[in-house]
Amino acid sequence: MKVLRFDDLGSTQDRAVEIARDAGDDAWTTVVADRQSKGRGRKGDAWHSPPGVNLYFSMIARPPDAFEDAPVVNHAAALAVARALSEHGLACAIKWPNDVLVGDRKICGILSRAGGDDKGGRYIVCGVGLNVNVKDFPPELSGRATSMLMETGRAFDREAVLESVLEALRERLELLFERGFASQVDDYLSIMAHVGESYVDAEGEALGEIEGIDRRGRLLVRRGAGSELVAVGRM
Ligand code: BTN
Repeated sequence: MKVLRFDDLGSTQDRAVEIARDAGDDAWTTVVADRQSKGRGRKGDAWHSPPGVNLYFSMIARPPDAFEDAPVVNHAAALAVARALSEHGLACAIKWPNDVLVGDRKICGILSRAGGDDKGGRYIVCGVGLNVNVKDFPPELSGRATSMLMETGRAFDREAVLESVLEALRERLELLFERGFASQVDDYLSIMAHVGESYVDAEGEALGEIEGIDRRGRLLVRRGAGSELVAVGRM
């Protein structure tokens, strides 16, 4: 696995996409930055990326031709992060689709982008922002975000955390490309947050009770007692 390190990037995601588009990657090439000036989250939000404390990286995956389900890469990545953090003593849950939580606070965000390269190949860039040693957050995030240090009261060796997360991520994605997401559903359900609670959509409407996810990673919501399950959206 080639790891390209930068002190300062706009976004590891943008750099990794450039490399993937040019087909300039080796197997599992990963771009890591100490700081991002334009770190991006889902829904166009900024990703808080101060220097010297956290992990920001984007791994380039090359899915096989038969693989058609790019969004579940995020689910598999969330499982990989949760597994790696458990090795460091933190019990995590996953809020569908792919927020990694400790308690009800977010410790890690994941963003993936699929595309085609100049040589006709396909890529998926999987971006991960993991709060490791950050001690506080800007007001808009405080109360909703956490870090490994804030949860345990001790600082972590970022290199050791990076190594374990990259290894877990590569393993999970290899498994995903070989066997599909159905083989990871049970693992996902075992740490899925908010099961049995009400699902409220982006418009604020309560759609029913969260039941789990299906084989394609879609959220299953139960509408009323005994009525059918409704698969909700993708990302
Ligand atoms: C989310 O909103 O939950 C997703 C956050 C993803 C942040 C990571 S940090 C590394 C990579 N580079 C980016 O600009 N974003 C992702």
